[in-house]
Amino acid sequence: MAGIAEFDGSRFLRACRLEPVDRTPVWLMRQAGRYMSEYRAIRAKHEMLDIIKQPELACQVTMQPIDAFDFDAAIIFADILPPLEGLGLKVGFQSGEGPIVYNPVRDEADVLALASPDVEEATWFTLEAIRLARRELEGRGLPLIGFSGAPFTLACYAVEGGSSKDFTLTKRLMMGRPDIWRQLMGKLAGLVGGYLLAQARAGAQTLQLFDTWAGLLSPGDYVEFALPYNQAVIREASQAGVPVIYFSTGTSGMLELMARCGAGVVGIDWRVDLGEAWRQLGSDIAIQGNLDPVALLGEWPELQKRAAGVLDSAGGRPGHIFNLGHGVLRDTSPDSVRRLVDFVHQYRFEEGS
Ligand code: CP3
Repeated sequence: MAGIAEFDGSRFLRACRLEPVDRTPVWLMRQAGRYMSEYRAIRAKHEMLDIIKQPELACQVTMQPIDAFDFDAAIIFADILPPLEGLGLKVGFQSGEGPIVYNPVRDEADVLALASPDVEEATWFTLEAIRLARRELEGRGLPLIGFSGAPFTLACYAVEGGSSKDFTLTKRLMMGRPDIWRQLMGKLAGLVGGYLLAQARAGAQTLQLFDTWAGLLSPGDYVEFALPYNQAVIREASQAGVPVIYFSTGTSGMLELMARCGAGVVGIDWRVDLGEAWRQLGSDIAIQGNLDPVALLGEWPELQKRAAGVLDSAGGRPGHIFNLGHGVLRDTSPDSVRRLVDFVHQYRFEEGS
């Protein structure tokens, strides 16, 4: 029988490939961020975009949660918006309001004016941060996750110009001018595919595609206006030979469509039972998720019960990566994160060892 040491560090990658593991691997979306005092200390001195664009700082922030908790993977510190600058969009972050695109894409002329960037040049800072972080992580035997926004979710910000509850302008363009929509999505898919591939070449050992707003679409619109671009992107990224995770929220009514994206791992939110999601996705796909991030704001007994509920829904099957159903909330106590991570690692399944 394989000893525990053999699984150390590769637990996360093994689970992505549906291979058996000694413990359920765990990391959390937005594991670096404002809930950590170490992050707030850096943010007091640097703007969000400055951290992202200075590889040493991005690497340092990437490592903060790794130093503080027993996570099974690191995710490079970046954001989904900066790569849009390669297309000629001007991106900013305003505290409290989220991201802004100062010159949003609203009509055909705007789409035609988008640049065709050299992806490596446009995103060099994140690629360099990946190289630095890999060096740091190697000594600890932990893998690094690279990521990008999915074309639909990027289109939401590019068209709307910032955050929105329902992205009405974006959906109006999609429904009213499908010809323009396809041009825009084609450009975004080219950018995202190249960006993911470049991240893998720089050293990212897994790639996650964030499609946060896909749940705003009907299944029919998803199939017509988003799915083909996800498939193209994942096909391109897969050339790197590393696992791809497709994550979205509010999409529990479209799980079979998620499975068609071509990713080996699907990230789900808490709106669907994990075991039920697996039945619909099929047994050849690994699952990442799906604790409600609000559970981390509560008392430990309640958090523990809910974490156990997620683990029991997965039932100890190979291919479960424990995570939240969305990012860590800023009011989360680091102590709760520590207890959660340790609880996942210590959990024993009834019929197991
Ligand atoms: O997971 C990680 O630790 C890596 C870092 C990461 C960030 N953003 C850092 C960040 C990742 C993976 C993202 C992805 C991202 N960014 C998504 C997809 C996932 C999701 O959460 O839905 C989206 C939609 C964005 C766009 C974005 N960036 C929004 C809407 C906001 C504002 C909301 C907020 O929490 O302030 C950001 C800013 C942002 N991105 C912060 C961080 C740590 C907070 C910035 C700050 O320090 O003020």
